[in-house]
Amino acid sequence: MGRAVRFVVALTLGLGLLTWIGHLTLTHTTRRWFERDIELRARLAVASARRSLVRHWAAGEEGGLPDVLADITRDERVMGTAACDLDGHLRAATPGFRDAFTCPRILSRLAAQGVALDAPADWSLTVDLRGGPVHLYGVELPEFSPRGFVVVVHDLSFLSRREATTRNQLLLAFFVLALAAAGITVVAARLAWRGWQDDLRRALRGDGSRQFQPLVRDVRELVARLSQERDADARGGEWSPERLRGVLTQHLHGERVVIVANREPYIHEKTPEGGVRVVHPASGLVTAIEPVMRACSGVWVAHGSGSADRETVDARDRVKVPPGEESYVLRRVWLTETEEAGYYYGFSNEGLWPLCHVADTRPEFRDEDWEQYRKVNQRFADAVCDEVDSDDPIVLVQDYHFALAPAMIRARLPRATIITFWHIPWPNPERFGICPWREELIEGLLGSSIMGFHTQQHCNNFLDAVDAFVESRIDREHNAVVQRSRRTLVRPYPISIEWPVHWLDGLPSPAQCAADVRRELGLAPDALLGVGIDRLDYTKGIEERLAAVDMALERHPELRGRYTFIQLAAPSRTRIPRYQELNDRVEALARKVNERWSEGAYRPVVLLRSHHEPPAVFRYFRAANLCYVSSLHDGMNLVAKEFVAARNDERGVLVLSQFTGAARELTEALVVNPYDLSEASEAMAAALRMPEAEQAERMRAMRSLVAHFNVYRWAGRMLVDAAQLRSRERLSGRLTRVGTRAKELLP
Ligand code: F6P
Repeated sequence: MGRAVRFVVALTLGLGLLTWIGHLTLTHTTRRWFERDIELRARLAVASARRSLVRHWAAGEEGGLPDVLADITRDERVMGTAACDLDGHLRAATPGFRDAFTCPRILSRLAAQGVALDAPADWSLTVDLRGGPVHLYGVELPEFSPRGFVVVVHDLSFLSRREATTRNQLLLAFFVLALAAAGITVVAARLAWRGWQDDLRRALRGDGSRQFQPLVRDVRELVARLSQERDADARGGEWSPERLRGVLTQHLHGERVVIVANREPYIHEKTPEGGVRVVHPASGLVTAIEPVMRACSGVWVAHGSGSADRETVDARDRVKVPPGEESYVLRRVWLTETEEAGYYYGFSNEGLWPLCHVADTRPEFRDEDWEQYRKVNQRFADAVCDEVDSDDPIVLVQDYHFALAPAMIRARLPRATIITFWHIPWPNPERFGICPWREELIEGLLGSSIMGFHTQQHCNNFLDAVDAFVESRIDREHNAVVQRSRRTLVRPYPISIEWPVHWLDGLPSPAQCAADVRRELGLAPDALLGVGIDRLDYTKGIEERLAAVDMALERHPELRGRYTFIQLAAPSRTRIPRYQELNDRVEALARKVNERWSEGAYRPVVLLRSHHEPPAVFRYFRAANLCYVSSLHDGMNLVAKEFVAARNDERGVLVLSQFTGAARELTEALVVNPYDLSEASEAMAAALRMPEAEQAERMRAMRSLVAHFNVYRWAGRMLVDAAQLRSRERLSGRLTRVGTRAKELLP
């Protein structure tokens, strides 16, 4: 026992030391990051207001200067802003500044810290006030006459509060860990001391006394489960295809997974030469799900949309894929022109798509489209039921094309585990209420066992819509909907990409890709490259992106003749008028920007409107100095994650819209509001002059996040939740049967 006590003490001290070192490192790094971010934001804000500042500088308080400063103070963490000249006179200030500072006080602090103001430059100071620390960032523009600076004051007190919370949580975690370690050690020591392990082993062999049999069975199950978990952990580490397969075998007894998604992962197209080629569609859904299917095998039920699709399937409309690897089955469902027009173009993409995206395109709902949507959902649900090999299969339903399918599958397979994942945002109830078939859509989705979204916000919106439009009980504590004693769990599962990305195999180095791309496009060997890669869709903010490129060139003369933005735009849903209109507008805008800034061989925008296969896409990612993802509203956006995956050289900057799910995870990107053209254009300029060390630091952090939170983890977590649900349902089914039997026996 003495040894056990010594061990516990040593373990506790070790854990304590580690916890404290972790805390210090974390605090230091997050504070450094945060200060850098607010400095960048202050710089962007002042740069955006540059023209107005210069215009109103001389007039000071009497002119429009107070309004310009008030504009800069819009950010909720900015306490105040002021304009001071170098003689210490206040030219104008917002109230928050006046309360805490004066110009002479700032100048004397700068002098005390040895900051010389002999030439226009930026500077920063951190000052401790009674209410907590504040951060001052000063910018002097060369055009200011008389000389002076604008100072932006940020409140840092919340950072100290956040640090205190982290410290408390770490301390708590440390105590819990220390207690657990102590408890486990003492119990293990006692077991060893009394020889209980031998008894237990004897009991497990089955020679225990009869009255212990149920206990022995329980213990056996427990031991089996613990050893399984231990094995899983030992094999665990990062999520990978192998680990995902392990989840299937371990938790779900190797059940076959059946996925239903409208888009197929491999499209067979006829070539003009009379052959057949395989096309990989531009789709975030396919990017995510395909590696999961390669890992799990099973069946993918999808619309056969390629011109050579019928020629490549067997008699049961199936083809093994990926070509040459054949790890799972693609089952194609054929649609007539009318079905495709109503279900895909009409209800899905002119109705639900604009309904769920806040991107100023009105949803259109037509009876005949709804009719086709219902019919096609039933056809796909039937195809799924044909493909399953048990009466309690695992079915993964993908996206807004199949809101009715879960209930339809449930009607034929009541014991199925149906996991539905909604790949796009879910709007608030007011907006969702626009849809004339809102109740039917929700009832359809509630056929699922688990309903997954990218973010908690979308889960909340869904629960609010359920609450508003159908009869049910919402279990807010467990995020579930209970209807007719059936339960649908509602969970966030942020989607991701495979890691490492197999398309990178064999691609040239980033430097080589950059040299090749510049040469092919006829650009200068030292051209700075930006890329945008999307389906040509109005939710992606492509017009706003090109307008931001235009503004960057207008504000930063040094970029003219050097910076070229390459936009790869894959044609999408081209039969829909709104998409045709977008195509024309993007083309006209690219032409306009080019007319304005082209000189000699230099072009600021290269618009490539065609489908690019993944290796070509990744070559552009590797070539770029920056990638701008400017979605106006996006569930996740996997282009952002693919860019990060492509940059194993830890170079390149991601400029990312705050309206993507990805912005919640990739916080080291330059996060912008794509509607705010000055912010976006300044972020592009900042990205292009970012020092390599900072690029590497940001990229490293994002790469480690995507590597860890990869798509195998996304799928694994859903399958583990499904497995828990299945065992709970099996148990409650058994209990119900026991209950019924007991009732039968009662007089
Ligand atoms: O999540 C990615 C996604 O936006 C899907 O919702 C959509 O189905 C897909 O990309 C691409 O669109 P489509 O299948 O209409 O080409």
